Amino acid sequence: MHIHKLEKYWLGFGIILLGVFLTVLGISAFAAGNQPASDADLIDPATVHQTAPFDNPGLHKIGDNEYELVMVAQAFTFTPGNVEIPKGAKVTFLVTSPDVVHGFQLVGTPVNMMVVPGHINSLTYTFKETGEFLILCNEYCGTGHHMMSTKIKVVE
Ligand code: CUA
Repeated sequence: MHIHKLEKYWLGFGIILLGVFLTVLGISAFAAGNQPASDADLIDPATVHQTAPFDNPGLHKIGDNEYELVMVAQAFTFTPGNVEIPKGAKVTFLVTSPDVVHGFQLVGTPVNMMVVPGHINSLTYTFKETGEFLILCNEYCGTGHHMMSTKIKVVE
């Protein structure tokens, strides 16, 4: 079979690109540990407000400048809102929804989750600077979606 020279180059280019792609993906997954968010923690959406820790939403100290921020995302608010966090705190966000899918984006940080009913969605972030952080819902969740936001204030 005769293959044109340019076709060979193009084929080679494709194979190299595939190799690069799989190598990057492999390093990211196995060496850097980038895994899809775990959906291991389940919760009954109908009883969110009676189920720990969501029966007591808020900022809970779990260690030396280490906190858990338990939040309920519900059309069209985040509970609790306007949370104050000390500078340098390592915060694990635990978020769930009793109604529909919401978003939880901490603007300007890598914290960006889909809040899926039935799942406890979590991410950890360390607040190194003081200031105000906006939390936005970035999944369309109904007529009040555009108003669904709150703030985190990081203080000394
Ligand atoms: Cu909640 Cu959009």
